[in-house]
Amino acid sequence: MSQYAVELPRSPEVAAAARSRLEDWLAAEVEPPLLGTARLVVSELATNAFLYGRGTIEMRAVLEEDRLVVDVSDEGEGFEHEPRERDLEGLSGRGLAIVDAVASRWGIRNETTHVWFELERARPVGRQPAAAGAAGAAR
Ligand SMILES: Nc1ncnc2c1ncn2[C@@H]1O[C@H](COP(=O)(O)OP(=O)(O)OP(=O)(O)O)[C@@H](O)[C@H]1O
Ligand SMILES: [Mg+2]
Repeated sequence: MSQYAVELPRSPEVAAAARSRLEDWLAAEVEPPLLGTARLVVSELATNAFLYGRGTIEMRAVLEEDRLVVDVSDEGEGFEHEPRERDLEGLSGRGLAIVDAVASRWGIRNETTHVWFELERARPVGRQPAAAGAAGAAR
């Protein structure tokens, strides 16, 4: 199991920062599609923390053999999520619907605001050297 934690900037760059830190941590360890999904979802959570939350924004990630869990927190008092009726004209209210669509599980914890999501990994992948495939092919 690997664990990571970082403070993110409370600025419009928050989503880009969240994506690049996640990539720095995980690129060598997880399958690319999972990293892509995690980058998408964390962008929504980081943007929400900047737009609607307060105080310090932090991102934590826990990587296990069979799942990745990421939590984005701010120092607001939490919120209730009510999925909105589909409004095809509306330009907002889509972020958490995306999270709901792609995450295995997700939720909001409200001591201060924490929004977390879990992505299941397709199969247990141990730490493999990046060159493992190439070495096999060269045999
Ligand atoms: N960190 C947060 N702190 C407080 N409220 C939040 C937080 N994150 C989300 N919310 C609330 O949940 C609502 C729904 O979030 P969601 O990301 O689904 O939609 P949106 O941010 O309004 O629009 P979009 O993400 O499509 O641009 C937000 O409008 C906001 O009221
Ligand atoms: Mg949003």
